[in-house]
Amino acid sequence: MDNRLFFPATERNRESIGKVLSKILLNRGFVLEIGSGSGEHGVVFQKRFPEITWQSSDPELLHRKSISSWIEYEGLNLKMPQPLDIDVEKTPWKIPFKMFLSIQGIISINMIHISTWNCTKSLFNESGKLLKKGQFLMLYGPFKIGNKHISQSNSLFDKSLKMQNKFWGVRDLGEVSEQASKNGFSREELIRMPANNFSVIYRKVVL
Ligand SMILES: C[S@@+](CC[C@H](N)C(=O)[O-])C[C@H]1O[C@@H](n2cnc3c(N)ncnc32)[C@H](O)[C@@H]1O
Repeated sequence: MDNRLFFPATERNRESIGKVLSKILLNRGFVLEIGSGSGEHGVVFQKRFPEITWQSSDPELLHRKSISSWIEYEGLNLKMPQPLDIDVEKTPWKIPFKMFLSIQGIISINMIHISTWNCTKSLFNESGKLLKKGQFLMLYGPFKIGNKHISQSNSLFDKSLKMQNKFWGVRDLGEVSEQASKNGFSREELIRMPANNFSVIYRKVVL
């Protein structure tokens, strides 16, 4: 059955995110994606970076079904593992041992503003336990800088998120980076992306 979902934003941001990934990825090991959504990013990046193994995950069954359908549709069944059921708040994350041994980093695209602040905390906490010194955690999405929105459209977006759920909202980069440092990460790079988004690369600096 074809359960593929189509998230239009992924078509707009996949190329620019792929360019950032091409600078930080090593040609080996697993990348764990948290909150993969439809799975469109996963299959695009798996094809773009064939030496790595892209491990998608999402807590929503409909999303995991979509990811599986995308994997099948793209003929990646032998290369790409089936999505994991990871809710960042349900810890410890259930991680296959093989991935635990050869993970090189974690990425989460457009997730932390569409979930509670506790999810952000948990993302850093669990990533800090899973990753070793030198490995990365990359976030992509809108951020406030110095607690201010960087554009009117981000401010409106933030309001619309809070109308859907009062615990959601565009996060402040400083507060996010504080969680990073509490869990052994340092902010390595902040990259301005199209449509008022950022890629943020955190690097684990302790063992
Ligand atoms: C806006 S979508 C982004 C999906 C995909 N990364 C993209 O860019 O198209 C947010 C995703 O975060 C997932 N999500 C929400 N709460 C989560 C949680 N507690 N743990 C992990 N993922 C979560 C949702 O199921 C959804 O797939």
